[in-house]
Amino acid sequence: MTQTLQERITEAAAYIKEQGVKQVDVGLILGSGLGELGEEVEQPIAIPYETIPHFPVSTVIGHAGQLVYGTLGGQMVLAMQGRFHYYEGYSLEDVTFPVRVMKELGIHSVIVTNAAGGVNTSFEPGDLMMITDQINFTGVNPLHGPNDENLGPRFADMSHAYDAEYQEMVRKVAQEKGVALKEGVYMGFSGPTYETPAEIKMARTFGADAIGMSTVPEVIVANHGGLRVIGVSCITNLAAGMQANLNHEEVVETTTRVKETFKSFVKAILASM
Ligand code: HPA
Repeated sequence: MTQTLQERITEAAAYIKEQGVKQVDVGLILGSGLGELGEEVEQPIAIPYETIPHFPVSTVIGHAGQLVYGTLGGQMVLAMQGRFHYYEGYSLEDVTFPVRVMKELGIHSVIVTNAAGGVNTSFEPGDLMMITDQINFTGVNPLHGPNDENLGPRFADMSHAYDAEYQEMVRKVAQEKGVALKEGVYMGFSGPTYETPAEIKMARTFGADAIGMSTVPEVIVANHGGLRVIGVSCITNLAAGMQANLNHEEVVETTTRVKETFKSFVKAILASM
């Protein structure tokens, strides 16, 4: 018997509650090389993805593949150490399933993070960028198909995909902490290839400041479910054509270099929510 999306969400959430997850305020999606923040969760309960009913299983190196529940920055958080990408072969319903489940568990807001290529010529590898808006250039949409009105509206409004009040708060936190925060538009490609220099030129013309292969579907589903969103990109490299060549090693190196700043910044954001 095939189950509805809502039935699968309910079963996954019930299992997670059985593991001791109670009140949750904020969901945290930790991108490539940024999963270490999950280790700072106090009194953690870790739940491997493969144990959760209907959860896909993570395949990418540098993604631990578990939920971590506990206190971080004074908030009750559920952190995803590792996320699912469309390029791995998952459907977008699978990619965004954890967001649905976190919403079911009671979160009101989600912080999405990622490693991204810098398209804006003033960015440097190692910069942190607050995402102010996004462009879905993946050619697909996680809300494609029948809509469950209980999960959200058929035609979801994306006018305020990244919450404006939160953006103000994040700017203040950056100032207080002396973080030279950049901001801009994140453009999502499907991957897994990096882009061509011509695609990057197009992306810049289209208004992108950073580019990546994640985040966009999760933020669409978060908006569909009425969640407030904060987005933080770690600019790990300059995008194609702006530096000699691109490789995953540089992405990992840069996240390793800036992870202490990243971790204390996200904790400070949580403390201000
Ligand atoms: N392009 C796409 N995704 C990325 C990049 C990039 O340059 N860097 C890190 N993730």
